[in-house]
Amino acid sequence: MAMVMEANPQLTLRIRRANPAETDTVSMVSYRVPIEPGMTVLNALLYVKEHLDHTVAIRYSCRMACCGSCGMKINGVPKLACYTQVQECGGDAITVEPLDNYPLVRDLVTDFDGFFQKHKGVSPFLIRKNTSEQETSYSEYIQRADELDRFLQFSYCIKCGLCNAACPTLATDPLFTGPQALAQAYRYIADSRDEGLITRVNAVDKKHGVWRCHFAGACSFVCPKGVDPALGIQLLRRLVITRKQAQAAPMMPARGTSPR
Ligand code: SF4
Ligand code: FES
Repeated sequence: MAMVMEANPQLTLRIRRANPAETDTVSMVSYRVPIEPGMTVLNALLYVKEHLDHTVAIRYSCRMACCGSCGMKINGVPKLACYTQVQECGGDAITVEPLDNYPLVRDLVTDFDGFFQKHKGVSPFLIRKNTSEQETSYSEYIQRADELDRFLQFSYCIKCGLCNAACPTLATDPLFTGPQALAQAYRYIADSRDEGLITRVNAVDKKHGVWRCHFAGACSFVCPKGVDPALGIQLLRRLVITRKQAQAAPMMPARGTSPR
């Protein structure tokens, strides 16, 4: 009896192509890709580059959801291409586009310079008054487990920028500090080893800072690492208000007395 060979199932990968440095033309180009078991969207894109069209521009590195460089919109939602299986996308067609809220470099590659500038703007490192302790190999900062719990989830951020891509406030206000940097401001302020409260409060307590968030929550919805930036922003607001109240307290009249 003759054996019937079943052809590999295929998917259609629709890639948004654009090269703003050379032309204003934007197009959606479709490629047919054979589906392999366990194939990710990044695998599918690499198949296109290897076999069909090497000019497609993508960015990736670790292929294991650690480096944060392969973010893109997959069927309209910001995701990591290396962390998204083609079979979880539903149907036999997948559309990939560059992340929103970032300048476009080419095809699926966006410019993250502004993103990292905002991250840098909240001083994302431990600030200590005694800096000499950082120069000695035998110094250690003691921290209890409950103190670690206050910021641990925020330290899982891989700076993939998906949260900023999903943020509706950033879509209308490019100067907004954004969920990633604000959550990191909270991460360091909440760290019992840190002494940089004033520096970071000054960095976020401004017109395009922590008060611009409308609490849409899209940032937390898309985060691939389980970080909840929307929560971080709310906790950060509380810290800013508490600090302002503490600053104002000495100027307020004591209860039962009237100002002269
Ligand atoms: S908070 Fe989540 S989505 Fe935002 S940059 Fe960090 S890991 Fe990515
Ligand atoms: S390639 Fe590193 S997160 Fe996807």
